[in-house]
Amino acid sequence: MSNSPAPIKKVTTAVFRSKKKRGEQLTMLTAYDYLTARAVDQAGIDSILVGDSLGMVVLGYSNTLPVTMGDMLHHCRAVSRGASRSLLIGDMPFLSYQAETGDAVRNAGRFLQEAGMDAVKLEGGRERLDAVRAIIGAGIPVLGHLGLTPQSVHQLGGFKAQGKTAGAAKRILEDALLLEEAGCFGIVLESVPARIASYISSRLTIPTIGIGAGGGCDGQVLVIHDLLGMYDRFTPKFVKKYAELHGEISQALLAYKQEVERGVFPAQEHTFTIPDGEWEQFLEQVGES
Ligand code: KIV
Repeated sequence: MSNSPAPIKKVTTAVFRSKKKRGEQLTMLTAYDYLTARAVDQAGIDSILVGDSLGMVVLGYSNTLPVTMGDMLHHCRAVSRGASRSLLIGDMPFLSYQAETGDAVRNAGRFLQEAGMDAVKLEGGRERLDAVRAIIGAGIPVLGHLGLTPQSVHQLGGFKAQGKTAGAAKRILEDALLLEEAGCFGIVLESVPARIASYISSRLTIPTIGIGAGGGCDGQVLVIHDLLGMYDRFTPKFVKKYAELHGEISQALLAYKQEVERGVFPAQEHTFTIPDGEWEQFLEQVGES
């Protein structure tokens, strides 16, 4: 009998398809650094999205538009060092795929070649089909993203739910069908009425991953800072906080400050010692004996 651990079964895009077929829910979370990626991977979450939401929750921008390829690749590399099982998806930042199809393919390729990602995500429907087809044609799996697409925040007039009229909902359905036909392995549906997201999910053979799109999707994704209660600036309606880390972090920082100021930290158990003989020699050597 061998003592070696069981081999890790890597999640692939084929798992996305088969889970949808079997009616099993897919789990996805964002991560932007090594340690968080390790925790998410070890929790058995199917997929890690290195979202451009890092612009807001890590870099402090008010939206995702300033995020660059350099930012994304930097964080994707850290995540890929921390995860071995989850499917890793790099989010293509604003203007890395909208202007030229050739740029879109080259930038998508960098996520796989330079940053250890398994797939990329990009926002948009019919207007992005050329880019989606070209990236998939280069052998790179693409996750679509419809509904509230944050890179279009100015066009949408803010971070607002989408698909709330019959016409707008029909357009999202049509875009979803086009993305499926173009070869996407799944589609994120963000801030879309639950009934519409559920209907779209029933019309697709590829899975939908919902965020603010109700329980009728084939999987769910959340920004990890929201789930852990770390981002105190704003909490979207669709977020469930599974922890309140912002409060816990604040308490820990205050306790540290007070203990240092009162001379309580560091205590004896946090310090290193020098043997008596060495201490005496040291005093001699510095002329203090
Ligand atoms: O950037 C991101 O984290 C996302 C998810 C919210 C889907 O696009």
